[in-house]
Amino acid sequence: MKKKVIAYNRVEKPVLEDLQQKYDVHYFKNIDTKRDPEFLKQLQTAEGIIGLDLTVDEELLNHAPQLKIVSNNSVGYNNLDIEQLNRRSIMATNTPGILTDTVADTIFGLLIATARRIPELDAYVKSGNWTESLGSDYFGSDVHHKTLGIIGLGRIGDAIAKRAHFGFDMDILYHTRSKKPHAEETYGAKYRSMDQLLMESDFVCLMTPLTPETERHIGKREFQLMKASAIFINGSRGKTIVEQDLIAALQNGEIAAAGLDVFEQEPTDPDNPLLKMKNVVTLPHIGSSTNETELKMSRHAADNLEAGLNGNKPPSLINPEVWK
Ligand code: GLV
Repeated sequence: MKKKVIAYNRVEKPVLEDLQQKYDVHYFKNIDTKRDPEFLKQLQTAEGIIGLDLTVDEELLNHAPQLKIVSNNSVGYNNLDIEQLNRRSIMATNTPGILTDTVADTIFGLLIATARRIPELDAYVKSGNWTESLGSDYFGSDVHHKTLGIIGLGRIGDAIAKRAHFGFDMDILYHTRSKKPHAEETYGAKYRSMDQLLMESDFVCLMTPLTPETERHIGKREFQLMKASAIFINGSRGKTIVEQDLIAALQNGEIAAAGLDVFEQEPTDPDNPLLKMKNVVTLPHIGSSTNETELKMSRHAADNLEAGLNGNKPPSLINPEVWK
């Protein structure tokens, strides 16, 4: 009998089709995972889960007594309760490395789009308003030669620093738990305390994973420390900031603008005040989503899944403590 696998939300079609050849795959998209009767029924006998953004907590695991592996099709894994998975000796995997340059491109694009007001001006031109030469009301601010502060200099933060240093002659400041000699030597990056970074940066780029330590760690006080001309970019998770405080900081002119790939709640509420602000550029959490990278991520997630189902060690195991 084929092993049962639950696929959730994002698994690229060719990869899903390959999995369907080998396993009894049940695909679900955007369902209420706490209540959907078919999903809860299939969970009872599922040995593997693959996909994006499925909340795997104690409640879900209580419905999944046969589960061996949860293969996240993302690098972030804040949707997984690792402690609960460890308790039940269930493997958890992610897709690091593959998406690094793609996300760094997106974040840099967001940064430039925000600084140079590209979406706002695009809408202006397309709506037929461009009838005369424009003045400073429409000008943006420079990116090159400015100071970029990166909070969380992991793989993706490093790739952003590389672009900023070699492409845009920017000064790089960073704040992380441990110092990064590679970035210091290669991009001239300088370590700063969080407060110092916030005070000195023209662009503050948040790239930390969401953990209990980083949850809501940028709020009112942190926005007030930033320059009034600062542009804030969030490429991590919406819950790493206090979104209400970002709204207030923008409304009060405490910072100049924001570029956001992530929101406290996703998809965000259409009434979110951030969506009404001209100085906010938004993306629908799409940092890693190019056709090429998503396909590679799905393949890697499938490799992780298959290894786990077949009793082998998955290449990107998050919780090696369950591997015996
Ligand atoms: C995207 O946000 C990811 O975690 O892969």
